[in-house]
Amino acid sequence: MRMRAAVLEEFGQPLEVQEVELADPKPGEVLVRIVNCGVCHTDMYTASGADPSGYAPAVLGHEGAGVVEKVGDGVTSVQAGDHVVTLFSPQCGECVHCVDPRTNLCMAIRAEQNLGHLPDGTVRLSRPGSGEDIRHFMGTSTFAEYTVMPEIALAKIDPEAPLDRACLFACGLSTGLGAAMNTAKVTEGSTCVVFGAGMVGLGAVAGCRLSGAERIICVDLSDDRLALAEGQGATDLFKADENTVERLLEMSEGGFGYDFTFEATGLVNVMAQAVETARMAWGLCTIAGVAGKGETLDVIPRWLITGRRVAGSSFGGVKGREGVPKLVDLYMQGEIDVDPFISHRITLDEVNKGFDLMHAQDGIRSVIEF
Ligand SMILES: NC(=O)c1ccc[n+]([C@@H]2O[C@H](COP(=O)([O-])OP(=O)(O)OC[C@H]3O[C@@H](n4cnc5c(N)ncnc54)[C@H](O)[C@@H]3O)[C@@H](O)[C@H]2O)c1
Ligand SMILES: [Zn+2]
Ligand SMILES: [Zn+2]
Repeated sequence: MRMRAAVLEEFGQPLEVQEVELADPKPGEVLVRIVNCGVCHTDMYTASGADPSGYAPAVLGHEGAGVVEKVGDGVTSVQAGDHVVTLFSPQCGECVHCVDPRTNLCMAIRAEQNLGHLPDGTVRLSRPGSGEDIRHFMGTSTFAEYTVMPEIALAKIDPEAPLDRACLFACGLSTGLGAAMNTAKVTEGSTCVVFGAGMVGLGAVAGCRLSGAERIICVDLSDDRLALAEGQGATDLFKADENTVERLLEMSEGGFGYDFTFEATGLVNVMAQAVETARMAWGLCTIAGVAGKGETLDVIPRWLITGRRVAGSSFGGVKGREGVPKLVDLYMQGEIDVDPFISHRITLDEVNKGFDLMHAQDGIRSVIEF
């Protein structure tokens, strides 16, 4: 079929919205009509050329939500009409990681996904006329009216859930919620610090609140973002400066630090602050931000010997097919206030404007409406 999609033709250049050919789903694959899609830093990072593993031409986009149009042979878990959230982190249910409750890092299709292929090593996207291959991005390619994805990378959600909000669960929001609820397993009555009040940090604030934390300090440079953190349940708003660590430790009980700290900025110096402010004796620091290529985390070993621990969290440790529908249900029950995250609504043709808004830190998310 012919459809419109935003194609990364050349690194560092605006995406080009154009007609693209999309082939039918093969066995185990599903055709999804995209209804909404968030514009995320990862898309912009790849488009800029800074991501060393990026490739072009490719259809970007990974925060999609839509409706199943058609399924390939052997697909049993979704059918036409189902509402789905796209997963860049799939859940095959069978690999060594999927059967282990300790991780969500499904191994089933990683290698081909990283190459921009569907699991069988081929692509469904091509240029009309020449037939030149166009690659898939993150296994999702949701800056497009339609996408073909593996069944194992679709989370079937409550059909009543509005898809413009549901799409945010495809990436940052689930990452933050999950970092608190799954990876750190924040406990009732605990003290927490969240560094960064973007989509991921705000999700972590909400996850701490849902886990019954008593004190949730959110740290950011922007007053507007801290105001959003208050709406998600932060009890203290903290403007970062050169004395962030000292001030935070001073504010903590006995000066020992905090039970749970979260890093959601992608900055390695802030990661170190999150480790240092975790409580001596048992504090757990969870790192969700993605650092630049080649950057390292500078941690004084004494921080660890005296009981602080460090964990990393990819997609919040959420096993997507099981976990995302549950998070969407929490939203539907009124437990998560998603509306404030949608700052702009744009068309597919305005996708580059979505990048500009993100670059200017104007709002949390631009959501494309198809
Ligand atoms: N682990 C995962 O699976 C996963 C998924 C999605 C995104 N991420 C990563 O998470 C990070 C956050 O993503 P986001 O979309 O929320 O980004 P964002 O840019 O919207 O938010 C980052 C926030 O950090 C704040 N900040 C900057 N310097 C700071 C400092 N010194 N102290 C405190 N706050 C500071 C900024 O003001 C901003 O509000 C990024 O690195 C992103 O790549 C990881
Ligand atoms: Zn994302
Ligand atoms: Zn798996």
